[in-house]
Amino acid sequence: MGLKNTNQQKYLLSKIATGNGHGEDSPYFDGWKAFDSNPFHFNENPHGVIQMGLAENQLCFDLIQKWIMNNPEASICTPEGVNDFRDIAIFQDYHGLREFREAVAKFMAKGRGDRVRFEADRIVMSGGATGAHEMITFCLADPGEAFLVPTPYYPGFDRDLRWRTGVQLLPVVCESSNNFKVTRQALEAAYERARENNITVKGLLITNPSNPLGTVLDKETLRNIVSFINEKNIHLISDEIYAATVFSQPDFISISEIIEEEITCNRDLIHIVYSLSKDLGFPGFRVGIVYSYNDAVVHCSRKMSSFGLVSSQTQHLIASMLSDDVFVDRFIAESAERLGKRHGVFTRGLASVGIDCLNSNAGLFVWMDLRRLLEEQTFEAEMKLWRVIINEVKLNVSPGSSFHCSEPGWFRVCFANMDDNTMDVALTRIHSFVLQNKVRVPSKRQCWERSNNLRLSSSSRRVDDKLMAQCLSSPHSPIPQSPLVRART
Ligand SMILES: Cc1ncc(COP(=O)(O)O)c(C=O)c1O
Repeated sequence: MGLKNTNQQKYLLSKIATGNGHGEDSPYFDGWKAFDSNPFHFNENPHGVIQMGLAENQLCFDLIQKWIMNNPEASICTPEGVNDFRDIAIFQDYHGLREFREAVAKFMAKGRGDRVRFEADRIVMSGGATGAHEMITFCLADPGEAFLVPTPYYPGFDRDLRWRTGVQLLPVVCESSNNFKVTRQALEAAYERARENNITVKGLLITNPSNPLGTVLDKETLRNIVSFINEKNIHLISDEIYAATVFSQPDFISISEIIEEEITCNRDLIHIVYSLSKDLGFPGFRVGIVYSYNDAVVHCSRKMSSFGLVSSQTQHLIASMLSDDVFVDRFIAESAERLGKRHGVFTRGLASVGIDCLNSNAGLFVWMDLRRLLEEQTFEAEMKLWRVIINEVKLNVSPGSSFHCSEPGWFRVCFANMDDNTMDVALTRIHSFVLQNKVRVPSKRQCWERSNNLRLSSSSRRVDDKLMAQCLSSPHSPIPQSPLVRART
């Protein structure tokens, strides 16, 4: 076909269509492709790649399904709900259903411990947080202007904020030495670098709780951030899509709570991006939200939202579900508990073979420290290790470089998108890999102490027993089976 000719394509199509601004050729997406071409299945493809690169929350679908069964009138496609079909099917106002906006505003407050209120009239919908980020960027910045983003950050931002808007993202370099804290010094340094390069900075984008770190920003950091953006008179976008995934202390503090305090803040500069993709586990529903404290931004983004409205059928269902206080309260509590439990099983499993993660209490992933497994402390060595993990250990984890991490050797590993059995297999593979490669494992004493401190669930005990047995055999004797063979056990 003629279109195969790249030059011809360049001539026929737009720069956006022929450029690679989407960022699809990064290792982050390559890992997904490796999984797609050989997906793990417990019985049908036990040698396949396990998807640990997808931040999905699949631990509470039973609760959602039960609610749907008990509330058939919430769907317009059931005998109980079909009477609403006509009204909902023809509805196409870009303000969205009033009850949908009210229910989402209430849910956002619940996800923040009801310490703060949200106005339904400030809720603007979009196609997931992905659409919300692009929409708010279109409202706040022109091509060539920039947003500062603390590293490491979610790779999708390079697509969502930059690709079609022509806006730039500039890293605020955060480091492991202080647990990747967003310091005033790092913010000033990034701002100064932009000025030296004659780039206009229009705002700062933070993710709280953080993807990929799984940590929450403390009050002091948030106050510093608010005073920084006020001093520079630039916008603050706070991506809070993991707000209700916090499973242990410290509590999540939303930017909305900080600006309610007595500190001086120009509220016109504050915008929250939210979605139901993570907290409820509905990425397929594409329910994204821009919540801006700036009236002009609310009006403009509402008009723009025509390009990515949430289907009225979805709005109708969500409105009904999120108005059920008893269900929502129970869901938030149960989801946090299950996430905390899964996080505990996974991090303890890693710790029993000497792998540490950044201390975290939120999100659907851990930030795994494999620096001591690198042949040398370079990003080339990180990629080499990543290829081994994908091709031989057959786990799709994401290398830190794809999150713009400033130090090689960190990997994001998702733990909530699979069942307990798959998690067991993943841990067993990691364990075999570590021991096979005779990398430094903890002493027998350390192993014992770590495991002794644990209260284990029955499924985690299965894995930990296996790990302990191997740990206690000898850290120097290579495991005689390949990770693939072990995966069948
Ligand atoms: C921090 C962050 N923002 C935005 C998104 C996109 O979310 P959505 O599925 O709602 O578009 C993700 C998805 O992983 C994310 O981690």
